Amino acid sequence: MKTATLDIEKIRKDFPILSRKVNGQPLVYLDNAATSQTPKQVMDAIVDYYSRYNANIHRGVHTLSQEATDAYEQARIKIQKHFNAARAHEIIMTSGTTHGINLVARGFTGFLKQGDELWVSAMEHHSNIVPWQMLCERTGARLRVIPMNQNGELELASFREGLSDRTRLVFVNHVSNALGTVNPIEEIIDLAHGAGAAVLVDGAQAAPHIRADLQALDVDFYTVSAHKLCGPTGVGALYGKEAWLEKLPPYEGGGEMIEEVTFEKTTYAGLPHKFEAGTPNICGGIAFGAALDYLNAIGMEAISGYEAELLDYATAELLKIPGLKIYGQAARKTSVISFNLEGIHPYDIGTILDKLGIAVRTGHHCAQPVMDFYKIPGTVRASFSFYNTREEADRLVAAVEKARQMLS
Ligand code: ALA
Repeated sequence: MKTATLDIEKIRKDFPILSRKVNGQPLVYLDNAATSQTPKQVMDAIVDYYSRYNANIHRGVHTLSQEATDAYEQARIKIQKHFNAARAHEIIMTSGTTHGINLVARGFTGFLKQGDELWVSAMEHHSNIVPWQMLCERTGARLRVIPMNQNGELELASFREGLSDRTRLVFVNHVSNALGTVNPIEEIIDLAHGAGAAVLVDGAQAAPHIRADLQALDVDFYTVSAHKLCGPTGVGALYGKEAWLEKLPPYEGGGEMIEEVTFEKTTYAGLPHKFEAGTPNICGGIAFGAALDYLNAIGMEAISGYEAELLDYATAELLKIPGLKIYGQAARKTSVISFNLEGIHPYDIGTILDKLGIAVRTGHHCAQPVMDFYKIPGTVRASFSFYNTREEADRLVAAVEKARQMLS
């Protein structure tokens, strides 16, 4: 299928895994919100690194070390440019979004006191709840929740009214992993800044679908994971405004994050190295850069447009199935459809779909408060990428209908 802007057949050839079979059926991979697949251009970058210039970075005078350092720092610049950060040293390389959030949460320990307030949204992934609860335990700060409605949209009224000079931090995802809602982060950032609070946005689920412009957003912290962006697992990036990163203490101590060490006193390196102790995931970082090159060659705007059409199509087709309920019907959504069939456990549907070669995630999606809100144990979540097709959406719909007939 060729749309006006994306040549899907050509794109699919870049992903060898998409032509494999699962349980005797051609794979339909619809678990992209958990992890995206990897194009051969990214695999080539990994093989090239280990074949030609595997070495530790920032340490050696020898040629391999310099080549590896250059490639790794180039990747940082690619991340900076992709998200329009003002400075490369505002990009901290991490092991992923969870690491980035923990780095910030730990860093705020010394800045909070009893009675300070932190706001979280009702639709966060556990990784954007638990580190802040731990921060509250350490400091006596209080966690408050921006509520959501049945459509899976945030209701900002109580947040607006509750903001005060006690508000110190707000953390919210750009896109909900469980529902696909695109949250009004622009408004949340404006409101929080009006009260003098900092904002961390978890961009893990947004980055594959929407390009965030960090300077236009004026966000304080933004975190992403490479493996949702056609890159490898175990690597990600935390953006922090220079002023905040200068203020926060280092997260981990070790090699590379120091300026000078004596047994009496250690002084820390400047940004970004202050937050990058130890040998990083060098190959992963370089491959992250290659993944961004790959996405940019296709074009994020073209990707967003194609995915929006696919989401609308799959949503309309799924809703034709009797007893199927979609959780999360926000006006602004990305490529996630979370659903259940009346009276049937999501796990049973997921198991039948797998037998038919279709990969989806079932369960609470690390967002138990969202499931509690809807009073359900979990959902079936089909999450789409730009390499998915209408034919694959049709196969999903036919398989869900089959599961309904078998299980009801
Ligand atoms: N956070 C990932 C998901 O939503 C793992 O599946």
